[in-house]
Amino acid sequence: MAAFEPTIIAFVCNWCTYTAADLAGTSRLLYPENVRLIRVMCTGMVDSQYVIKALLEGADGVLVSGCHPGDCHYINGNYKARRRIKLLKTILPQFGFEPERLRLTWIGASDGIQFAEIMQDLVTQIKALGPNETRLKMVI
Ligand code: FES
Repeated sequence: MAAFEPTIIAFVCNWCTYTAADLAGTSRLLYPENVRLIRVMCTGMVDSQYVIKALLEGADGVLVSGCHPGDCHYINGNYKARRRIKLLKTILPQFGFEPERLRLTWIGASDGIQFAEIMQDLVTQIKALGPNETRLKMVI
């Protein structure tokens, strides 16, 4: 049986984390290919439905990552995201998902190394959790 390779959906802010991912790439830093980036203009626009839909439709983990607090290009979008993610973590168990499948991070535009490290750490964490069982139940 093949080793479990998780699929992780990452909603990343255009101004910071996406730029850090780009920097990691141009710096030839290695990070796992399990992570699928979805570029958004700000973490504040990542609706709770996006996260739940990603998990329901097969993601093993979801990352929301953007500018550090105080650096949001839309003033307070990341503060809104932080409140939303905190709330989401409390309701995810009602859908059958472990809250650890969702992570919020701040990765600045110049943090290419940090980006690669966090992606590696996230994949390790999701591998330890195992496949998204709720997704599997829905398929059956
Ligand atoms: Fe990056 Fe708002 S613009 S989190």
